[in-house]
Amino acid sequence: PNVLLLGPPGAGKGTQSANVADEYDVPHVTTGDALRANKDMETDYGTPREFMDAGELVPDPVVNEIVAEALSDGEGYVLDGYPRNTEQADYLADITTLDVVCLLAVSDSELVERLTGRRVCDDCGANYHAEFNPPEEEGVCDECGGALIQREDDTEETVKERIDVYHESTEPVVDYYREAGVLREIDGEATPEEVWEELRETIDAAV
Ligand code: AP5
Ligand code: ZN
Repeated sequence: PNVLLLGPPGAGKGTQSANVADEYDVPHVTTGDALRANKDMETDYGTPREFMDAGELVPDPVVNEIVAEALSDGEGYVLDGYPRNTEQADYLADITTLDVVCLLAVSDSELVERLTGRRVCDDCGANYHAEFNPPEEEGVCDECGGALIQREDDTEETVKERIDVYHESTEPVVDYYREAGVLREIDGEATPEEVWEELRETIDAAV
């Protein structure tokens, strides 16, 4: 299936995308991870880092190119972190057809708690939370034994900016898919297991 996961920063897109990729054997396409792997790459607009560490969107031509390349193989995908504005949504409509768009809905106050407590594996990218999803051994990845670190954009100030950018630029994308009739809303505040169950049922019903 061609699945798009939408939701504010910290809604659980990365966490649930891993489940989708496993279950349907499709690649996880995420502009956030792709940009983090190339944070200091020189583009016509400067480096991704300048935008990401401020919580702002990286310019459209840079992310459009990442997505066009990643989707060129076909055979299904779970896309996460893109599109983040209506211009990106128009671009995406030109290069692929989505089967289902799932919105993980979470309130702003819950997002701040999740993101400031998030820890990620420096080696494999696995996601943890100091309180909600702790690793077996503090600071160590369960999956690969790598060191857990805090993302540079997970400070309280940058988290608030990212949430503002979501309301301003990305919420119109939610309306865009709602009006197109492909949007399915999922309660993102349930436990990760419950969210996954609802998400899987939603995808199965759509494809
Ligand atoms: P990106 O990496 O996409 O970040 P984001 O959208 O802010 O999303 P996050 O990765 O922070 O959160 P998530 O929804 O994946 O949640 P997670 O599963 O980790 O983008 C980063 C930056 O890159 C942007 O700010 C921008 O600069 C740039 N960028 C990226 N794409 C772009 C684009 N298309 N255009 C322009 N710029 C772009 O979960 C969060 C935490 O909560 C974790 O600790 C997790 O363990 C915990 N958790 C998850 N689910 C639950 C649950 N059900 N209950 C309790 N805790 C939970
Ligand atoms: Zn790891």
